[in-house]
Amino acid sequence: MKTIFDLRLANHKDMDLIYIWSNDKLSRINSFNKSKIIYANHKLWFKKLLKKKSIYIFTKNKRPFGLVRFSNFNKGIKISYLISPKNRGHSLGSKMISLFCEKIKKSRKFNYKKIYAFTIKNNVASNKTLTKSGFDCLGIKYKKNCYLKKIDEN
Ligand SMILES: CC(C)(COP(=O)(O)OP(=O)(O)OC[C@H]1O[C@@H](n2cnc3c(N)ncnc32)[C@H](O)[C@@H]1OP(=O)(O)O)[C@@H](O)C(=O)NCCC(=O)NCCS
Repeated sequence: MKTIFDLRLANHKDMDLIYIWSNDKLSRINSFNKSKIIYANHKLWFKKLLKKKSIYIFTKNKRPFGLVRFSNFNKGIKISYLISPKNRGHSLGSKMISLFCEKIKKSRKFNYKKIYAFTIKNNVASNKTLTKSGFDCLGIKYKKNCYLKKIDEN
């Protein structure tokens, strides 16, 4: 079977899966806020993201493998992302981020020219993921490595 990677908007059925992914040990270690997420807070947070249409599920042959979410930042957007714990270790993060950047570039509804990402210094997998996806490291900002990808118009 041919492997098809894609991104789709998240929907309410993804809520519990995203809760499990977000509470995974590595995801908490690599987040600004390291405490365990409470389900009631997750529900509120997730509903807001759904409303804003700012969370995408990365799929492999329609099965959920990861997520990318974004919010407005510095005349562009900043992204957060993860690959589901059991599917890490196959460089799918860079596949997912590259697909996301393509989506932003091609979509008529988005007009973002800058995509930022922040990772903690020793999150090697994430730093490498961003570099492989064409991001430049701008150095340390807000105590994290700051990365930027400019979306060209060609
Ligand atoms: C960041 C993340 C999405 C990367 O997922 P992934 O694509 O499965 O990552 P991999 O384990 O395949 O590693 C990516 C690359 O880093 C390299 N790498 C990973 N850990 C490494 C280490 N300790 N030392 C050197 N290289 C390392 C891998 O070899 C791979 O390189 P390659 O693509 O050249 O082969 C995933 O680790 C994750 O979901 N982490 C939790 C959430 C998170 O940290 N999000 C980012 C901040 S918002």
